[in-house]
Amino acid sequence: MAEQSAEFVVVANRLPVDLEKLPDGTQRWKRSPGGLVTALEPMLRSREGAWVGWPGLADAEAEPFVEDGLALHPVMLTARDVEDYYEGFSNGTLWPLYHDVVAPPAFHRHWWQAYVRVNKRFAEVVAEVAAPNATVWIQDYQLQLLPAELRALRPDLRIGFFLHIPFPPTELYQQLPWRKEIVEGLLGADLVGFHTPGGVRNFRWLATRFTDARPGARNEVSYDGRTVKLGAFPISIDSAQLDELSRTPEVQQRAKEIRNDLGNPERVILGVDRLDYTKGIDVRLRAFEELLQEDRAGDTVMIQLATPSRERVEHYQTMRAGIEQSVGRINGTFARVGHPVLHYLHQSLPRDELAAFFVAADVMLVTPLRDGMNLVAKEYVACRSDLGGVLVLSEFAGAAIELKESVLVNPHDTDGVKNALHRALTMPADESRKRMRSLRRQVLAYDVDRWARSFLDALGLPS
Ligand code: ADP
Ligand code: G6P
Repeated sequence: MAEQSAEFVVVANRLPVDLEKLPDGTQRWKRSPGGLVTALEPMLRSREGAWVGWPGLADAEAEPFVEDGLALHPVMLTARDVEDYYEGFSNGTLWPLYHDVVAPPAFHRHWWQAYVRVNKRFAEVVAEVAAPNATVWIQDYQLQLLPAELRALRPDLRIGFFLHIPFPPTELYQQLPWRKEIVEGLLGADLVGFHTPGGVRNFRWLATRFTDARPGARNEVSYDGRTVKLGAFPISIDSAQLDELSRTPEVQQRAKEIRNDLGNPERVILGVDRLDYTKGIDVRLRAFEELLQEDRAGDTVMIQLATPSRERVEHYQTMRAGIEQSVGRINGTFARVGHPVLHYLHQSLPRDELAAFFVAADVMLVTPLRDGMNLVAKEYVACRSDLGGVLVLSEFAGAAIELKESVLVNPHDTDGVKNALHRALTMPADESRKRMRSLRRQVLAYDVDRWARSFLDALGLPS
């Protein structure tokens, strides 16, 4: 691939595909986990851009390659980088800190040093890939120093940054020993995007408090002789594509089979998440268990699908053990032979299979303690062209701002979640259909392409 030839470059910690080593020593690529890839992949494919990221394996030497018209440029991380930059600073410090410290963040200087080192490495790779005056769109919390590092190497580039997770309240952010450096890193961009106006406000205040940035016009700061724009851009999904997939006879048939396999219960409750402590999986299991104890669940079966995630990070191991114990306890108490009340799959499923689960579910439980957006909630709505199903959604997910016709819950209030779940299970069809119609209007109109266009317009990229 020619050097410095890409006009539009997306940079994320991960490539959209992960390199996987098979037991026989061969390698294969498989889709990467998480909402960032779900959102960006369709957008970038339609723009024929380049994607710079880590292939998901330590010490993997992979050459740049083209996949379905998308040029992928792997960045190598050593086992040490993975431990200190990815599992350490990104997922042991920033992830819990930015999610309202729902787990305690750890502050280690050697993690920070690795974060600086890896961000610089990404800057070097991007500087080699991007054409003169190209547009570079940097994604997420793992790469917050990259805007400034890249600007130092390539001042000709137009640089955008988008944060896919919440930007925390200022009091929490101030705990970070490297708060100034990170804000300065982000200010290297021409446009910094968040999901919500609250994120914009918090960042603007911190920028003027901890750096030389000065308030400019609304949603702007001036810094280092430049104007840095700030904006709120709530991310979404490829709604039309998922709507279409969910209507196919194959998916509809598979949804019937799933219900059949479950023993055709009257009601099916579904949870779909990366196995992450921010997602409130324990909250919803507790609510379901209490409904069963109170004999208020009726003829209901619950399914929890959980993609394996960050399995070497301690908080994740503790949480997984707790959830698997609850699953065992709930089935131990309430199942009959051949009829579990709770099905738990610690697996990542293909998109069409996932769509069938969405179609099969009467109640979708989305109960994060904190979430930047939560695409699963939007995916469920996109799959319900039949206007069936009820969405129960945490007030602490970014999606709650848009999905107002869901049954909103405070995930810290177990009674509240339990009552909302009961209400969803017993909601009259005319009410649930009315709500779903309104949710679908929102999700189908505000799709990921609209999100990307509004960000890139604000960045000044000619469409
Ligand atoms: P996050 O970005 O924190 O992982 P989101 O809800 O925004 O959370 O995005 C998660 C993405 O991962 C969604 O596209 C969802 O469909 C997908 N996903 C979650 N669990 C599974 C699973 N078990 N199998 C396949 N895909 C999954
Ligand atoms: C969230 C984050 C992404 C991340 C994804 C999967 O969506 O915002 O940046 O890629 O989770 O997590 P992982 O650590 O496996 O990349």
